[in-house]
Amino acid sequence: MPGGTVEGGGLPAPEVGIVLGSGLGALAAAIEVVGTLDYSEIPDFPRSTVAGHRGRFIYGRLGGKYVIAMEGRVHYYEGYSIQDVVLPVRAMCCLGIGTLIVSNAAGGLCPLFEVGDIMAIEDHINLIPNPLVGANDPELGVRFPDMGEPYDRKLISLAHAVALAQGTNLRQGVYVGSTGPSYETPAEVRYFRGIGGDAIGMSTTPEVIVARHQGVRVLGFSLITNTLTGEPAQLFGGPKLTHAEVIEAGDRAMPRLCALVREVVEKM
Ligand code: HPA
Repeated sequence: MPGGTVEGGGLPAPEVGIVLGSGLGALAAAIEVVGTLDYSEIPDFPRSTVAGHRGRFIYGRLGGKYVIAMEGRVHYYEGYSIQDVVLPVRAMCCLGIGTLIVSNAAGGLCPLFEVGDIMAIEDHINLIPNPLVGANDPELGVRFPDMGEPYDRKLISLAHAVALAQGTNLRQGVYVGSTGPSYETPAEVRYFRGIGGDAIGMSTTPEVIVARHQGVRVLGFSLITNTLTGEPAQLFGGPKLTHAEVIEAGDRAMPRLCALVREVVEKM
């Protein structure tokens, strides 16, 4: 429970859970580590198949609060069941976190967005299977959870205030969670823009759904690693979108996102 202790360990329960997705990896170094637990040590826990992704929980202090962070997440496109994808977030919620902070790399659908922009997620459109399909465990949450405020408005306001003070131009918009792993076709880009998306990526929405199911408030950020125009590529003959480009853009914007999240945790 928030303010309680981790069962059996005598340590304070973490107040905040953080998914160190693209753009937040470096935040791990800012945590005063109390302990770590490799996913490989947990029976039946999913492990990322993407090269270079480590998989472990980090428990420690950040911005004066006890936090638990997921260094490495798994994606639906890796072939895991949707229940496996959300298992680490479920575990953090069961440890008693009151707030979940998530980040992702995303393609910009909104024409105003530029590579390197950070977007506070105000809402999402989930096109990845819903992790709540199947028997409901009433100890975790209700059968039909409300999704009227998936991302906490007060935390978004706080993020804007912190970003302003830090000189970071924080965008805001709707995140589309799609399965991937192929990037979008030009027609799909126009479609996703048309249905209200501002950014699109391949993670996050299932994690947010289970966090809301368990009554945990959520703050989410997308790092815009590339912009999507919806124009057929042959009109430009330009370079193709690669994973390397996405990673590189994410790494460049990482210090700004880490500074933002660190101060938001401190002030919330
Ligand atoms: N599409 C989907 N997922 C992504 C993208 C994109 O353009 N960029 C980073 N993740």
